[in-house]
Amino acid sequence: MLEGKKFFIHTFGCQMNLNNSEQVTSILLAEGASQVDSPEEGEIILINTCAVREKSVEKLFSYLGRLKEHKTRRRSVIVCLGCVAQLYREKLLSRFPYLDLVVGPGHYQELPLLLHNTPGLPAAVTHWTKDWVELPVKPVARESQVSAYVTVMEGCDNFCTFCVVPFTRGREKYRPLRSIMEEVRQLAESDFVEIQLLGQNVNSYRDPESGAGLAELMEKMAEVSRIEWIRFLTSHPKNFSYELALAMASNRKVCHQLHLPVQSGSSQVLTRMNRNYSREDYLEKIGWLKSLMPDISLSTDIIVGFPGETEDDFSQTLELVEQVRFTNIFSFRYSPRPLTRAARWNDDVPEEVKIERLIELQKRQKEIQLKLNQEAVGQKQKVLALGRSKKGNLYTGRNEAYQVVNFSSSRELSPGFVEVKITGGGAYSLKGELSS
Ligand code: SAH
Ligand code: SF4
Ligand code: F3S
Repeated sequence: MLEGKKFFIHTFGCQMNLNNSEQVTSILLAEGASQVDSPEEGEIILINTCAVREKSVEKLFSYLGRLKEHKTRRRSVIVCLGCVAQLYREKLLSRFPYLDLVVGPGHYQELPLLLHNTPGLPAAVTHWTKDWVELPVKPVARESQVSAYVTVMEGCDNFCTFCVVPFTRGREKYRPLRSIMEEVRQLAESDFVEIQLLGQNVNSYRDPESGAGLAELMEKMAEVSRIEWIRFLTSHPKNFSYELALAMASNRKVCHQLHLPVQSGSSQVLTRMNRNYSREDYLEKIGWLKSLMPDISLSTDIIVGFPGETEDDFSQTLELVEQVRFTNIFSFRYSPRPLTRAARWNDDVPEEVKIERLIELQKRQKEIQLKLNQEAVGQKQKVLALGRSKKGNLYTGRNEAYQVVNFSSSRELSPGFVEVKITGGGAYSLKGELSS
C-alpha cells in the first residue's frame, strides 16, 4: 500500500500517454496515495515520456535534469514511464543516476509493487508483453468529466521507416471488446457523453475473442444511450477501408471527423516511408469520405524534410494540402530516430530547408483554416463545453469537427453539450455566444 504518499505525474506525448497517465493515477489512488499538483510536493514523481521526435527527447532530458534538485532536497522517488523508458531502458539510469525506476508501457500494473520495494536497487522494467495487458483498475481519474479516452489497441506492426513507435509500444495488441464495452458503460453511467477510441493503428482492431472489427465495436457503443459522440484515432490510410467510411456515415453517433495522417503528398516519398499507399490512393479515400459525408472535418500529420525529399516532392505536399482543405494539420521537421530504417540513410535535407518548408506549409494551412473558420460564422453548432477558457470569462469547448470553440455565456455552465452561435473565426479557433 502507498497510504498517505503524495505523488506528482507529468505527461509528455500523445493521447495514449495522457490516457496511460490517467490509468497510472487511478492505480496509485486505489493504493491510498494522493495526487499533488507540483513536483515540489511530490514524494513520488512520475514522468510519462514520448520518444517520437528528437525534440521530444531533448525536452525530456532537460526536464529530468531539473528534477535532480528534488532528489537531493526531498529524496523524492523518481520514476520514468512511457516510450523513452522503453526505448532507452538502462541507458536512462546511467545518464540520470538519481532515477529510481524506469518502467515501460506494458508494466504499469506492477507499479504499486515496484514502488513498495523502492528505494532499493534502481530498476528498469521493460520486457516486451505479447498480449494485451488488462489493468487491475479502470481509470477513475479523468482529465475531463464529459469526454473520455478509451484505449482499444496498442502497438504497431507497420514499421514506417521514420517511426520509433513500433520499438516503444511493441507489436499490435488488441483489447477484448467486452472489456472495452464494460468501460464504456461505466463511463456513460458517470455522465460521460464523448468517447475517443485510441490506438496507434485503430483500423486494424480485431476483438481477440470474436474477431469483430472497429465498425462493429462502434455499433455496439452506439447502443449505449448516453454516449452521443464517438471518435477514433489514429487511422492508417493503408487500411482505411470503404466499409469503415460507410460505417462512419451510417452510425449517427460517430462524428464526421477523421484524423488521417498522410505524411507526404509525394508517392515517391511515401514509398520510401513504407506507408503502403500512394498519393492517388490517399486522395481516392478522401473522395469517398467527402462524398459519403460532405460535412466531414479532416486533419492530418505531415513530415517535411524526409531523406531525399526534393522541392518537387514538397510542392506535391503543398498541392495536396490545398486540395483536401484539412481543418487542421500537425506538421513536423523530420528527425532521425534510433532503430528505424531511415536513420541509416543520409539525413540530406539541410535544417534551414526543413525550417523553410515547415514555415511555408504552416503559412498555407493557416490561410486555409482562416477561410474555413470564416465560413462557419453565423452557424449554430452543437458544442461540448469543457470548462472555462484560459483567457478571460469565456467558456471553451469543441464542436463535432473537433475545432476549439470559445464562447460567452450569460449563465453559469457545467461541462456538457450546448448550442453556440458562431460569431467569429481566427485560424486556430472559433468564437461564439451561447444561443438560447
Ligand atoms: N500512429 C500514428 C502516429 C504516430 S506518431 C500514425 O500512424 O500516423 C505521430 C506523428 O509524428 C506521425 O504521424 C508523424 O507525422 C510524426 N513523426 C513520427 N516520427 C517522426 C520523425 N522521425 N520525425 C518527424 N516526425 C515524426
Ligand atoms: Fe509509426 Fe507508422 Fe506505426 Fe504510425 S503507422 S505508429 S507512423 S510505424
Ligand atoms: Fe510519443 Fe509514444 Fe505516443 S513515442 S507519440 S508517447 S506512442
